[in-house]
Order: sequence, then structure tokens, then C-alpha cells
Amino acid sequence: MLSHDVKDLSLAAQGRKRIDWAGNDMPVLRSIRERFEKEQPLRGQRIAACLHVTTETANLLITLKAGGAEVSVCASNPLSTQDDVAAALAEMGIGSYCIKGEDNETYYKHINQALDIKPTITMDDGADTVGVIHSERRDLIPHIIAGTEETTTGVIRLKAMAADGVLAYPIIAINDADTKHLFDNRYGTGQSTLDGILRATNILLAGRTVAVAGYGWCGKGVAMRAKGHGANVIVTEIDPTKAIEAVMDGFRVMPMDEAAKIADVFITVTGCKDVLVGRHFENMKDGAIVCNSGHFNVEIDIPALEKLGAKKQAREYVDEYTMPNGKRVYLLGEGRLINLASAEGHPASVMDMSFANQALCSEWLATNHSTLQKGVYPVPEEIDKNVAALKLASMNVAIDTLTPEQQKYLASWQEGT
Ligand code: NAI
Repeated sequence: MLSHDVKDLSLAAQGRKRIDWAGNDMPVLRSIRERFEKEQPLRGQRIAACLHVTTETANLLITLKAGGAEVSVCASNPLSTQDDVAAALAEMGIGSYCIKGEDNETYYKHINQALDIKPTITMDDGADTVGVIHSERRDLIPHIIAGTEETTTGVIRLKAMAADGVLAYPIIAINDADTKHLFDNRYGTGQSTLDGILRATNILLAGRTVAVAGYGWCGKGVAMRAKGHGANVIVTEIDPTKAIEAVMDGFRVMPMDEAAKIADVFITVTGCKDVLVGRHFENMKDGAIVCNSGHFNVEIDIPALEKLGAKKQAREYVDEYTMPNGKRVYLLGEGRLINLASAEGHPASVMDMSFANQALCSEWLATNHSTLQKGVYPVPEEIDKNVAALKLASMNVAIDTLTPEQQKYLASWQEGT
């Protein structure tokens, strides 16, 4: 067994069962794993993964190991680790450094421990590993051929680093593949965010007013699923085009200052900071519930909430703050990604596509990295389309193909005019 730091190794058997259960719903990743076992395309690679340590992630890491890589993992959020999965991974020979609820210091210690394998490939969800490498662990840069990044916020950070000329190696933006954000961000975040809120609170959503901040890929999914539960959904935005989309999808759009007075439940999913701040909390109705599903816990101004209200725990994952005016505001999951804090994150079927992209991009990087410069790159189109085709086949859905005449027609500007 490689070195590890997990909560309790005796949870491994339970973790394995749940990993297998998720694996049942990941047919694309399974087919990649079977090929990797034979072809060993990652032999000689060392992959340090900083991801939400869930059953789906475990299936990805097992696939990478089956392909011949040495693999280590740490959490990409202090509250998203599933301790039984972390234990199972340690037993399977993956360097596993993650404990649910770890403090900030331990979180960074674990990133550093995962990096001790001297990775050739980094796999990030939020770019925290890249941040540590570029500040404290620059000695590792000569070993690294490339990296991948899973989420919107990470891609934004990496593009900012590239624009400043400080990004030291090439990184593929997995998030930007169609087979990632169109499904994972929309249907995955949509379903699992509602799942997290319901598991934390057990409230009835029907008839409640739910304000969703941000109408990007995640926000669209969250708003759609909240509406499906019978909630009256309000959307807040800063982008006029996204705001029109929300209006035409049937939602009320207004500034947060107005929404703050009327919503019962607030969900931030913008990737921005200070979306809910002190004046909003002060104007909320008694019993308002606030939570976040964006990557970092900066969307809700928690220090302002702490200053304003007397705090007590109402139930697991629910903190009650009593405002000076006597009204209560409930914060879920410490303002961290609620779908991973109080639920299990995205369902396996959707992570099948995201992680198929991760596995196939790692393979692609192992042979093609020298064609890349320092910078942020899209997922190669053939990989994105291949993942879609494999997923569709696994769902037993057939589609039409273009006839030669149709291909000619679509490629011509003269025919049929
Ligand atoms: P996106 O870029 O598609 O959408 C973000 C939207 O928020 C944009 O329409 C933007 O105009 C809007 N926005 C920005 N600042 C705002 C503000 N102050 N008020 C209102 N709206 C604002 O990004 P996407 O893919 O929807 O991701 C959003 C966040 O969720 C990111 O942090 C991402 O990393 C994270 N994420 C979380 C997941 C989870 O499991 N909970 C899964 C995938 C992504």
C-alpha cells in the first residue's frame, strides 16, 4: 500500500461496494478501462489528482491505474470527500490523502502529499494544485508534461495565469468539452444541488420561492430542477443575454436586492464572490435558507453573516443565524458546494462522460504533450465526439448518418440555390 492519510481504513469494504455501484452506471469509462488494461497507455506516468473524492472519481482513478499510471489523490474541497471511498482507494494502491471536514491547513498538507509522487500529469478541479505548484513546489515543474482541469472556476483561473504569462505547462480544459459542461454542469449540478438541499433540510420545495444566482450551465440545471419540484423560481444575473434566456425559459429575473426580500431559498452558482452579502441577509424573510453550489465558498459572504447573527447549529449541515431584527437565516453546508457537502455529488451516469474525457485526455497527453506550448487547450474534438458516440451507444440510442449527397449539400454554397 502507498502512503495515505484517510479517516478510517476499516471503511474500505463499504467504499468498494459503493464504488462498484457507481461503476455500474459508467459504461463509457468501463470500456476505456478494459482497453487501458490491455494497452497500458499510461505506463510510466505519475498522475496527481485533486478532485472531489467520490465513488465516481474512484472509478476514474482505477481506470488511470489500470492504464499503467501511478496515481495519488487529494480533495479539491475540504467537505467533498467520502471517507469510505478514500479508504478503499488507499487499499487499492492509490496514494489517498483526504478526510471529510479537514481544516484549511490539512487541506493544503494533503495537496502537498499527493504531489510527493512528483507527477508527470496534474488533474485538478478548481486549480488548487496548479496554485500550490506555481507557488511552493516549483521544483516539480520540470517533471510535469501537462495537466487537466475539470471545472469552470479552475479554467477561469488558469486562463488568467496564462494571460499573465505565468502558467508553466500546458493544461487541457476538460470543462469546456461539450460532453462535459452540457451534461455534468447542467443535469449533474441541477439534480445534485437539489438533492443536497433536500438531504440537509427535508423541506418541501413545491410552492416555495427559490432564487438562483447565475444562469450559466449550472444555474440553468438548478433552475430547471427547482421548477420541476413546483418552486417559483427567480433568477439573478449580470449578463444581459443570459438574463433574456432566463426570462424566455419562464423565470422571473430581478436584481438580488429585490430577490432577497421575497425568496425562501437562495442558491448561488455563479463562480463569482459576494453574491449574497450583509444587506441581503438583513432583508431576508424569517427562515430564509441560503446555500452555494459554485466552486468556492466565497459566493455567500459568510464573515458578514457571522458578524450579523448569533449562530447555532439547527441540524447537520444547517447553521441558524439570528439577525439583529430577530429573523433567522439558515446557511447550508458552511457555504461550500452543497451537492457534495450534504449529498454525494453528481450521479455516476453524468460523470461517466466527464471522466471519460479525463481518461482519454490523459492518454492523449502521454503521447502528444510535446505538440503543446504552455497554455490552456480545449479537449481534442475527436475525443469529445467519441465520448458522445460511446455514451449514446451505451444508452442504446441510434441516430441517422449523412448520405454522401447530404454531405456534399452541406459543404456546398452552390447546390440547391
Ligand atoms: P458559467 O460561466 O456557465 O455560469 C456562471 C453564470 O453566473 C454566468 O451566466 C454569469 O453571467 C453569472 N454571474 C457571474 N457573476 C454573477 C453575479 N455576481 N450575480 C449573478 N450572476 C452572476 O459557469 P458554470 O459552469 O455554470 O459554473 C458556475 C460555478 O459552478 C463555477 O464556480 C463552477 O466551477 C461551479 N461548478 C460546480 C459544480 C458542482 O458540483 N456544484 C459542477 C460544475 C461547476
